[in-house]
Order: sequence, then structure tokens, then C-alpha cells
Amino acid sequence: MVGKNRKLRLAVSALGLGLGMLLAQGAAEAADKVKVGLMLPYTGTYASLGNAITNGFKQYVAEQGGKLGGREVEYFVVDDESDAAKATENANKLVKRDNVDVLVGTVHSGVALAMAKVARDSKTLMIIPNAGADELTGPLCAPNVFRTSFSAWQPAHAMGKVVAERGHKNVVTLSWKYSFGEQSVAGFKEAFEQAGGKVVKELYLPFPNVEFQPFLTEIANLRPDAVFVFFSGAGAAKFVKDYEAAGLKASLPLYAPGFLTDGTLEAMGGAGEGLLTTLHYADGLDNAKEKAFRSGYVAAYKIQPDVFAVQGYDSAQLLAAGLSKAPAGAFDKEAVMKAMSAATIDSPRGAFTLSKANNPVQDIYLRKAESGQNKVIGVAAPKLADPARGCKLMN
Ligand code: BEZ
Repeated sequence: MVGKNRKLRLAVSALGLGLGMLLAQGAAEAADKVKVGLMLPYTGTYASLGNAITNGFKQYVAEQGGKLGGREVEYFVVDDESDAAKATENANKLVKRDNVDVLVGTVHSGVALAMAKVARDSKTLMIIPNAGADELTGPLCAPNVFRTSFSAWQPAHAMGKVVAERGHKNVVTLSWKYSFGEQSVAGFKEAFEQAGGKVVKELYLPFPNVEFQPFLTEIANLRPDAVFVFFSGAGAAKFVKDYEAAGLKASLPLYAPGFLTDGTLEAMGGAGEGLLTTLHYADGLDNAKEKAFRSGYVAAYKIQPDVFAVQGYDSAQLLAAGLSKAPAGAFDKEAVMKAMSAATIDSPRGAFTLSKANNPVQDIYLRKAESGQNKVIGVAAPKLADPARGCKLMN
């Protein structure tokens, strides 16, 4: 009887030990995962941008055998619809409900500003793969908020100089009326007017309105030397087609940050040919990373990549740079952030580093749309750093 009890006790404790080991292994595996919250637009005028960012991010993860810095990646995905009114609730779903280690998002600056507040308040690591609102790496900069894309100021300021150098004196601007559009116009105006030009009128329509006709009529009546616009995604394709159909393309030079023609040239059906834009990326740049990235992207997704795909890819690269320097086990945010700030990212756009405000310091290219591609024709502003006005991290 005694022997029987002992055997039972031994069996139970062996079972307990086995269970404990299994639980410990499960906990270690969970701790070694990185939980990534993708908050991006998958519907609406910026849907193609959100999809390209996601594709680029996942391409880099796939190239690393499904891991980042040696950790399995677990995704949590929210469609933010480019709707700023839903942004806080959507970001909280990822942070509070899903308990993600890192928030990756988004495209629309109004949504990103609300997301960044959630990230700052909860001290969650955030990587912005597109939204360019100057505040994000300006007065609202934070050690846990990183951007792999651009500030509104960077491509727009570079374009202000280009347009002045091309001899234009009077320019009318047109954009969607929200932070990014207004700041793009401000960046353009700063450089253009410093160089002796004049922005004679700033026109705006609500996002994501695409009723351009009354604005095209007004622009024609104002008779400027040139026009500067910000549009992107499906709205950009419609704008350029409408501009040509109104007979303006032949008589009134159109300039823009490259968001106008990136990922949209095919949808423009030829109306975009010849357009000059400024951006931190161009199709087929002459570097090894771009060649490998482009062929990998085409093989995986059967479409050509664009700047948004590059930004998604580089967001994953930046996170990997942080994770690979952090200790194994529980997610060590401080160590990840430290390594991310110090990283040099080998990007298809050309290698870049981050400023103290966590915004890329990068070449801004002058590009021309030719045969359905945004081809580089020069460097409009080499190694351009955003001034990060009002960012306390700069001191
Ligand atoms: C923005 O809202 O920041 C943005 C949206 C589309 C393209 C570029 C910037």
C-alpha cells in the first residue's frame, strides 16, 4: 500500500515537473516574441499606401526567416480608415487590449498625431512609416516615437528651391486641408519666397474630397507661372487626370512632393508623364539594396514597389536593428530604443541615419515621371535634416 502511494506521488510530481517545464517553455517563447500592432489604412483613398507599407514590412520579416532580431513576429492589425475621429480608440485597442510591444502606423498625419499621443501617454514604442506632420518629430517629439519616412517640410522645402531655380515667380498652391497638406505648402513657401518667389494664393479642399473642377477653374483664372500641390493615393491619380483634361498640363507647370506620382502613375494612364516631383526615393535608384528589394518585392507581390513599400520595409529594418542589440527574454524597450536611435539603415532609398528627433536625415531627389516610372534626375537637397523646430530632444 505504502509503495503504491509513493509511486503515485512520484508520478504526480513528474507530471507536475513536465507541466511546469512546458509552461516555462511557453512563457519563454511568448517573451521572445515581438508583438507588432499595424495600424494603417486598408480602405479609402490611402488604402494602397497602407497595403504597400504592410507588404514592405512583411517582406523584410520574411527575408529574416519570419523573425526580427531573432524573435518571432506576432501581428495585430487595425484598419484606421484614415479617420482621425477613430484614431485614439483604434490605437488603444492595440495598446491596451492587445498589449503590443510596438505600434507601427500610420499614413494620415491627423490619425498619426492621435496615435502618437496614445504612444506618449502609455510609453509604447511607435514607428511611423509614413505620416509626415512636422509636429511628430518637432514640438511633439518623444524618445519612444520614431519615423522612417519624412517630415512634411523635407520634400516640400526642397521643391520650393527647385521651382525658384526654374525661374517661376508666382505660384498657386492646392492641397487637402489638414495638417500635412498645410505644412507641405508652408515648407514650399518658406524656400520659394526666400529665393524671391511669391505664393499668390493657397487653395484648399477638405480631405478626401476629389471635386477638383472649381479649383482648376480658379487656378486658370489666376494665371500663375506654376502650381504646387499635395495629393496622394487614389485622389492624386484623379487630380492629375483632371488637371490634364482641363487643358492645364500643357500650359501651366505642375510641381509636387513625390507622393503625387508614387504608386499612382499607372492609374493616371499617361497623364502623369513628365511631371517633376521631389522625394527621398526614386524608382530604380542605383544601389544594391534597391535592386534586391525591388526584385524581392516583385517576386512576392507581383507588382512594382513604391516609396510607401520602402518605408514599410525600413520600419521593419529599424525595429530589427533595435531588437538585435537588446537582451533575449522580455521586451527591453529602453535597449531597443537606444539601438534604434544609433542605427544606420541600409535602405533602398540609400543609407540613412536618424536625427536626434528620430526623423531620417536623407537625400531628397528630383524625379521625372517617364514611361510609368519616377526616375531620378538629380539630388534636390543632399542629406537633408528636418529643422525639428520645438523638439526638446534636439538640445
Ligand atoms: C500624411 O498625411 O502625412 C501623408 C499622407 C499621404 C502621403 C504623404 C503624407
